[in-house]
Amino acid sequence: MKVLLNDGLSQNGLEIFEKAGIKYDKNHYEGDELLEKIKHFDGILVRSATTVTKEIIDAGINLKAIARAGTGIDNIDHVYAASKGIPVLNTPGANSASVSELVFGHFFNLARYISESKRTMALGEWNKNQYKGYELAGKTLGVVGFGRIGKITAGIGLALGMKVLAYDVMNINSDMNVKVVSKEQLLNESDFISIHVPKLDKPFIGTEELKMMKKSAFLVNCSRGGVVDETALLEALNNGIIAGAGLDVWENEPHPNSVLVKHPKVSATCHIGANTYDALDRVGIEIAEKMVAELMK
Ligand code: MLT
Repeated sequence: MKVLLNDGLSQNGLEIFEKAGIKYDKNHYEGDELLEKIKHFDGILVRSATTVTKEIIDAGINLKAIARAGTGIDNIDHVYAASKGIPVLNTPGANSASVSELVFGHFFNLARYISESKRTMALGEWNKNQYKGYELAGKTLGVVGFGRIGKITAGIGLALGMKVLAYDVMNINSDMNVKVVSKEQLLNESDFISIHVPKLDKPFIGTEELKMMKKSAFLVNCSRGGVVDETALLEALNNGIIAGAGLDVWENEPHPNSVLVKHPKVSATCHIGANTYDALDRVGIEIAEKMVAELMK
């Protein structure tokens, strides 16, 4: 039995394969080379760098499992895999705390000009008077999508003394001190908005939604690139429709929109939401255990 760990795996995860007597290859292959190599493996495990297409699934004539070390499985053609009876495994929840903490990293950065201060200080400037910011305490946090990550985000907001509004297409049944509202009410009333929804055919936040927000609102997207329409966002930032945006995920990864990246009203990170040693360890262990169990069936 042999698995391809195309986007790497934590040491703890590797040890689980070793203990189970499953061999692994942790090199990264792409394009034709990946199509050629995949036929020798019983399973493939990826993070976000590899897209497991229909073509790869067809070339993987020995594939018995496809695994995503993370939550979102949008980079795997899971519908096609299911049609061929190949299970797609993932680790929902294992990296939620890391993502939620990054959301607040962006909120604090936006509200307090942290990276702008550093950038301009490095140029020899001292712009204290330009960098008057806002506290989060006492403000309204809007959490769109009340799954695992949304709930942790709401919890951090409550701990900071924020009032929390929540919206989800599903019924929200929670004993947390949050007010369940419509999408419109959330967008209208929130000072800080964090999006936790999967990528759908059309952006969840476009021109219309941005116009519903307060001019002073800060919007953070640590969910998936494309959930916020980047063209509409740029226009909104340039025209003062909202105050700022924190983006960890991008429509075109790993080549994000450079105008947005450099924009003074944007706090930018390179899809590092789940990239903590803590989350990588948890994810590595959980996904390796799931894959071993599947391959040993
Ligand atoms: C996830 O879906 O869990 C994250 O996007 C993981 C990653 O960083 O690849």
